[in-house]
Amino acid sequence: MGPAPLPATIAWSGGLDGHLEILDQTRLPHECVVVRCDDVDTVIDAIVRLRVRGAPAIGVAAGYGLVLGVRALNPLPNAFVDATRTIAARLMAARPTAVNLQWALDRGIAAARSEPSVERLLHEARTIHEQDAAASRAMARHGHALVRDGATVLTHCNTGRLATAGDGTALAVLFAAWQSGARFRVLATETRPLLQGARLTALELHAAGIPVELVVDGAVAGLVARGGVDVAFVGADRVAANGDFANKVGTYGIALACAAHRVPFHVVAPTSTFDPRIPDGARIPIEERDANEVLAVAGNRVAASGVGARNPAFDVTPARLVSSFVTERGCVEAPYDVAIKALFATGR
Ligand code: MRU
Repeated sequence: MGPAPLPATIAWSGGLDGHLEILDQTRLPHECVVVRCDDVDTVIDAIVRLRVRGAPAIGVAAGYGLVLGVRALNPLPNAFVDATRTIAARLMAARPTAVNLQWALDRGIAAARSEPSVERLLHEARTIHEQDAAASRAMARHGHALVRDGATVLTHCNTGRLATAGDGTALAVLFAAWQSGARFRVLATETRPLLQGARLTALELHAAGIPVELVVDGAVAGLVARGGVDVAFVGADRVAANGDFANKVGTYGIALACAAHRVPFHVVAPTSTFDPRIPDGARIPIEERDANEVLAVAGNRVAASGVGARNPAFDVTPARLVSSFVTERGCVEAPYDVAIKALFATGR
């Protein structure tokens, strides 16, 4: 018997008077705790603390957070859009890098403008949720042939069912490749400081029966140089118009190592993670998190008292290091400025 399936990463329970349920990822893999959110503050706190995390999942949670926040304000129709903007601004401040948050909130505000009702906001949140699951399926379909039988695949952070409303982004591609019969093994970085790879990615791959081994983040360049990696798949938190993209800190180093040793490096991300308004990666805001996350490992302080730390949660990888982007609308290759423009030519 395999491990028990995890509860849904995000679920709305009930109708207009319902609540949001979030699987608390800070407790995984050892404890399975579902947090009930009846108000927007609990949703904001869950996003800030990474109880819910991963760019697409943050966007989905924000859509429902908007419902809870505006519902509590109970604004008159003529004040509805302003109230929606106020709650959206509070949610937006929770995490700055993943553009999915802004994207989902913009959709909520547009929905409120078209019809000032909580019902309409809930409908939009549910639509975002369903579309994210559908995007996962489409990315898996477009990307799975990039995984060759017998390959050793490298991945970073967590890009699976815990990071989206569906099977994931990069991990969805791996799940689909495995289901279609390819046999491969995965090297997952542990992903310091919060260990999304060690705690979440290893759990998801192991549960799916896909052979996975953890490596410390610092092992990547050496393994790639020794021919120990055939292909890398990562997700993204924000892709600029020229294809530069932000992802979990450490991604840039992986991309450099892959480029130096001619190892294909693919980025799997839905179009909700693209920000065509930002011309290049220099304009992507990078979240700086609490130094204590670096000074401690799994909550236990390891650095001497008085020592400080920098904690950028993301880094930016230049487009020239990317072999392809896999999106729900298909795979695109360089030149990325042209390809990304074409991706959006039909509208978002
Ligand atoms: O800080 P996190 O855990 O939210 O960072 C997540 C990542 O960097 C993922 O790679 C990214 O959001 C893509 S997930 C589908």
